Amino acid sequence: MDSSSALKVVRQIKEMQELSGRLRLQKKRVAFVPTMGYLHGGHSSLIERVHSLADVTVISIFVNPLQFGPNEDYTRYPRDLDHDLKIAEEAGADIVFYPDAGEMFPKDFESFIDVKGPSGILEGAFRPGHFRGVATVVIKLFNIVKPHVAVFGQKDIQQAFIIKKLVGDLGYDIEILVSPIVRESDGLALSSRNVYLNPQERAAAPVLYRTLCYASEAVKNGQVSVLVLKEEMRKMIMSASPSQVDYIAFIDPSDFSETENLKSPEVIAAVAVRFGKTRLIDNFIIPVPDKK
Ligand code: PAF
Repeated sequence: MDSSSALKVVRQIKEMQELSGRLRLQKKRVAFVPTMGYLHGGHSSLIERVHSLADVTVISIFVNPLQFGPNEDYTRYPRDLDHDLKIAEEAGADIVFYPDAGEMFPKDFESFIDVKGPSGILEGAFRPGHFRGVATVVIKLFNIVKPHVAVFGQKDIQQAFIIKKLVGDLGYDIEILVSPIVRESDGLALSSRNVYLNPQERAAAPVLYRTLCYASEAVKNGQVSVLVLKEEMRKMIMSASPSQVDYIAFIDPSDFSETENLKSPEVIAAVAVRFGKTRLIDNFIIPVPDKK
């Protein structure tokens, strides 16, 4: 859409489907950025990236109840529509799909999507049912928005892998892009959940970034033992007094399995750590030198 057009907010599934259908008939390329709102610079970077690749950029704002466990933060997840609309418009979005929970998941809703293999480890192990909720809402959003291209953030790297797998397995004709993590100046990955951190926890949280930098340097300098890397990373994280380390893991990016052997060309180092009640995740994609 041209840059002078104002942001359009759509609340009903039917209206969004009709709008997307018309855009497709007009041969417009539709880009999609699914979000749960409380937008920050990471979301802006996703919107800006796809805005340049498409005629129309749609974002969704929907705090998806299906992906939160019973003791998680669904009700207190931060929400601020006015702020979100401003950020979305500044970044170049044209349409905001903003349904309520009853519209997306009415009482009689009973169809769910499971991506078996990669959903079982890391986030899937610590948040049972999380990826079932993500996969189900994302497929429903794809069917409503009908995008040609959709973008996800690398911060949720397991989610991005699962969405790619889902799209491949089910034959969706949608290009899935993954955009790099955006960070604060001290390295903390941007996340809507960072607002939960108290000043002490906020000061401690960049240890995740420093730990991943250590891993990256160590691998570059020839460290091949995942055991040694994990041990050193755990020591670094513990020095910042977190309330719990959920995992420190090395992942083979080809199938998203945990690996004890570093294989060229790349490995993913991923961490999940709790500071007080706030659970933060972060990761680096680390180049692994070829064994000579
Ligand atoms: O990454 C997120 O914000 C959510 O998991 C998503 C993809 C919008 C699905 O609710």
